[in-house]
Amino acid sequence: MSGAWIDLSGQVAAVTGGAAGIGRATVLALAQVGARVIVLDRDFAGAQAVAGQVGGSARALDVGDEAQWREVGEWIEAEFGRLDILVNSAGVALKDSVGDSSLDTYRTTFSVNVEGSLLGMGMALPLMQRQGKGAIVNLSSSASLRGNTLMASYGASKAAIAHFTRSAAIQNLRAGHDIRINAVHPGIIETTMADDLCRIYDKIGSPDAVRAAVSVGRTGRPEEVADLIVFLASDRASYIAGTSIVIDRAANA
Ligand SMILES: NC(=O)c1ccc[n+]([C@@H]2O[C@H](COP(=O)([O-])OP(=O)(O)OC[C@H]3O[C@@H](n4cnc5c(N)ncnc54)[C@H](O)[C@@H]3O)[C@@H](O)[C@H]2O)c1
Repeated sequence: MSGAWIDLSGQVAAVTGGAAGIGRATVLALAQVGARVIVLDRDFAGAQAVAGQVGGSARALDVGDEAQWREVGEWIEAEFGRLDILVNSAGVALKDSVGDSSLDTYRTTFSVNVEGSLLGMGMALPLMQRQGKGAIVNLSSSASLRGNTLMASYGASKAAIAHFTRSAAIQNLRAGHDIRINAVHPGIIETTMADDLCRIYDKIGSPDAVRAAVSVGRTGRPEEVADLIVFLASDRASYIAGTSIVIDRAANA
């Protein structure tokens, strides 16, 4: 591994939502460059299967549950004694419109997408601060960058986590910790969630038309987002912190 452009050997990385989609691709990519990976997902069987592929570890976790995060933190501390990288990829996308939807819809979206990532940072930051170093990547979305016709809460939740990312980054750097926290904003990436989104948007056009409207030329692959996440998590991105990186092949240009 030594001499590799990115080498995460000796580092411990946790990925929420690691059982599927972008999270799963990130687990595989982190392991490929030497990290010991912990797969966290409410789909425990899925998490175990992905962890098994890379000799990693799996834990059942509902990211919106504070008590579960506390247990995961204690377990990571006892098992690994450190945490170098956290990727908050667990997320949900529900159909809703402002004024029309139930409070439950808003709360579910924010509980997973915003509170889930905040709780994750709350678990990881004390460990990283003790080490004096760490990297966190939060999954926002290109949906956070403009008004959203059918998923208002989703876009708002992703804008919120991008802003929390900036605040968390500046707070930690100003406090003297070499902890870099960044957000990535993918366009449409071929996962189960994207299929669900296209079904939601199908009400205003075919899934293909939706994909064509949101993506230029083609949709993205989870591995393409994972490569960006691994880069941000590595020392190759040592001067990148508190920022938002859009990965959508100019669909927003
Ligand atoms: N796919 C896209 O087009 C796209 C675009 C922009 C942003 N994103 C974001 O990227 C992230 C990953 O999306 P994806 O497309 O891979 O989704 P996905 O649906 O394929 O996978 C999501 C994973 O998160 C897990 N999960 C969901 N709720 C959870 C909870 N409460 N606790 C623990 N695990 C939970 C699921 O079990 C699943 O394994 C999400 O935050 C999503 O909002 C996705």
